[in-house]
Amino acid sequence: MISKDQLRRDFPQLGSLVHGKELLYLDSAATALKYKASIEKESQFLLSESANIHRGSHYYGSEGTKRFEETRLKIAKYFGGNIQNWIFTKGTTHGINQLAKAMECKLKSGDQILVSRLEHHSNFVPWFELAKRKNAHCLPIELKDYQIDLDSLKKNLTTQTKIIAITHQSNVSGRLQDLKSIVALCKEKAPHAFIFIDGAQAVASQKFSVEDIGCDAYYFSTHKMFASYGLGCLYLSERSIDALSQFEFGGSMVQDVSFEKVTYLKSPHGFEAGTPPIAQVISFGAVLDYLDRQFEANEIWDHEVDICKQSYLKLKELDLFELAIFNEDVPTNILSFVPKWGHAEDYAHILDKQGVAVRSGHLCCQPFLKSLGASSVLRISFSVYNLSEDVDKLFNAFKKAKEMLV
Ligand SMILES: Cc1ncc(COP(=O)(O)O)c(C=O)c1O
Repeated sequence: MISKDQLRRDFPQLGSLVHGKELLYLDSAATALKYKASIEKESQFLLSESANIHRGSHYYGSEGTKRFEETRLKIAKYFGGNIQNWIFTKGTTHGINQLAKAMECKLKSGDQILVSRLEHHSNFVPWFELAKRKNAHCLPIELKDYQIDLDSLKKNLTTQTKIIAITHQSNVSGRLQDLKSIVALCKEKAPHAFIFIDGAQAVASQKFSVEDIGCDAYYFSTHKMFASYGLGCLYLSERSIDALSQFEFGGSMVQDVSFEKVTYLKSPHGFEAGTPPIAQVISFGAVLDYLDRQFEANEIWDHEVDICKQSYLKLKELDLFELAIFNEDVPTNILSFVPKWGHAEDYAHILDKQGVAVRSGHLCCQPFLKSLGASSVLRISFSVYNLSEDVDKLFNAFKKAKEMLV
């Protein structure tokens, strides 16, 4: 792994003071700290190289177009697929809503959409609403030991199943789902169904290929991957490209327009209406270069899993867990738990006063929390820039919180 000094240079927010204490950032599942060279690229583009793309033939317009499309190629090289398979959106949630719009004409009354009980509200509510609009059924895939239960999936898969939407990695437990088995089962039992994967949590620490997963769509936000806000990436398989109609209309995505007829560009541009977030796209390219250059395939994940487990074992000494959504034998980079004494929010508040940023609440995952009988949890999430020495700081912060609350 890279040195602490280098991490400080790469992620400058690490050195900041919160309530007079050095920040210990343990909320990367909500958003990652930003990679300096990427944000510099973004501001450099905005300040000195700005121009709209895909239209003018002047210098900055052409340069911007080139760099924008170069990022698309980097995404395809990093995550698999080709450039026509990668669409820019405004984020994970936006990508899912676009897909839900595009799927509207594929659904009829009585069809089924399967969604796991683990899903973030963003990968649940748009499907729930789509089902409502089409008089279809949105059904849960149940869990076993916090994982998607293949037996429950198998029972639910029928010829009526048209969409299966599941997460790659839970934003509550951090568990990776067994996508290979899930996709194989879906393809066997419901070959006509579309399989959509929410990659929001997974992309910052997993190295994989969307083609190996075999899904019809894969979506994520760049802000969870050390880059800027307001940008998402949506992978569409060839099958999806052929099946889905345009989900937004306007400039940039048309081939020819008249009052008689409008024709559209092929993917990806036919799916991208209006001016895209050009600066954010270009700056995301710098993140992919960095990850490619600095880290081996599983290095980030192994590092995070190691610190997460160390933290769990250390915090266990404080006898804090009423319910730990954690299993020592299953790798994860997130530790979520219901505290034995006091409320999750109280701990988060006391930790914040000590410079330690963690998350509390329902984590936009109410169906999952309700299945555990919980309304709120504390979540500690780790990233590439967390270090073993953070474990002691975290322990001391919790010790103090416990002394105040018990
Ligand atoms: C698993 C998962 N899906 C979807 C989202 C929504 O992402 P965004 O708010 O960037 O659209 C999140 C964000 O926390 C997430 O963790």
